[in-house]
Amino acid sequence: MVRDVVVAGGTGEVGRRLLARLAARPDLQVRALVRRPGLPVSAPNLREEILDFEDEGACARALAGPCDLLLIALGTTRARAGSDEAFLQVDRDLPLRLIRGLAAAHPEARVGLVSSVGADRPRGLYLTAKAEVEAGLAASGLAHVIARPSFLVSDRAEFRLGEVLVLRLLAPPWLALGRGLFARRAGWWRWAPVHVREVADALLTAALALAPGQHRILEGPDLHPGPVATWGKP
Ligand SMILES: NC(=O)c1ccc[n+]([C@@H]2O[C@H](COP(=O)([O-])OP(=O)(O)OC[C@H]3O[C@@H](n4cnc5c(N)ncnc54)[C@H](OP(=O)(O)O)[C@@H]3O)[C@@H](O)[C@H]2O)c1
Repeated sequence: MVRDVVVAGGTGEVGRRLLARLAARPDLQVRALVRRPGLPVSAPNLREEILDFEDEGACARALAGPCDLLLIALGTTRARAGSDEAFLQVDRDLPLRLIRGLAAAHPEARVGLVSSVGADRPRGLYLTAKAEVEAGLAASGLAHVIARPSFLVSDRAEFRLGEVLVLRLLAPPWLALGRGLFARRAGWWRWAPVHVREVADALLTAALALAPGQHRILEGPDLHPGPVATWGKP
C-alpha cells in the first residue's frame, strides 16, 4: 500500500501536475524534493524538502525517509544545460542517484519515471540518457512504471522553439488525423504530442496500482485516454 510519496522534479511541467493530483489525495503524505524553495502547489499533505541533488549522501538520506513511491520528473535540455556533461548530470545521473538511494533504503518501494518515446531504441544523447535511466531502474529490482511520452504540451513559461513549433504546427493535424482515421493505431498515438496533465494522470494512476515486483511501460494509447486527448479541459 502506498502512503508516503516522494516527488523529484515537482516544479517542472509534468511534476507540478503530479503535485496537483497528489494534493487532492489527503490519504497520501507527499515530500517534494526541490533545489530551491517555492513549490507551485500547496496543500496540507504536501511539504517541500530542499535537497542538494549533487550530493549522493544527501540524496540517500532523503530517500531513507518514509517513501513507498518515488515519482521522477527531472529533466533539462542540452541548450539549457550548456554541455553534454551538464545535460547528462540532470537527465541521467540525478535520476539514477535517487533510484539507487531508494533501492538501498526501501527495496519494496515503487518508482514512477517520466522517460521518453524512443528510449527503447535510443539514438543520440537525449534518448541514450533516457535508456540508461530505464536500464538502471530495471536493474534496481524496484517495482516501477515508466511513462514514455512524445512531445509534451503544456503552458510552459520558458520559450522552447521546438515545443512551440510542435504545439502550433504539428499537434493539431496529428491529433485530428488520429481522432478521425487512426483512433486504434497504437503506433500513431505513440508519437502523438501529449498534454503533461495526461502524462501525470496516467503515471500516478499506474504507479499507485502497481503490484509488488511489477514493471509497466506507458506509451501511445496509455497516455491518450479515449484515445482522444482532452486538451483545454480542466
Ligand atoms: N519536453 C518534451 O517534449 C518531452 C518529451 C518527452 C519526455 N520528456 C521528459 O519528461 C520529463 C519531464 O519534462 P518537463 O517538461 O516536465 O520538465 P521541466 O518542466 O523542464 O522540469 C524539469 C524539472 O527538473 C528539475 N531540474 C532541472 N535541473 C535540475 C538540477 N540540476 N537539479 C535538480 N533539479 C533539476 C527542475 O527544477 P527547477 O524548477 O529547480 O529548475 C524541474 O523540476 C523530462 O525528463 C523530459 O526529458 C520531455
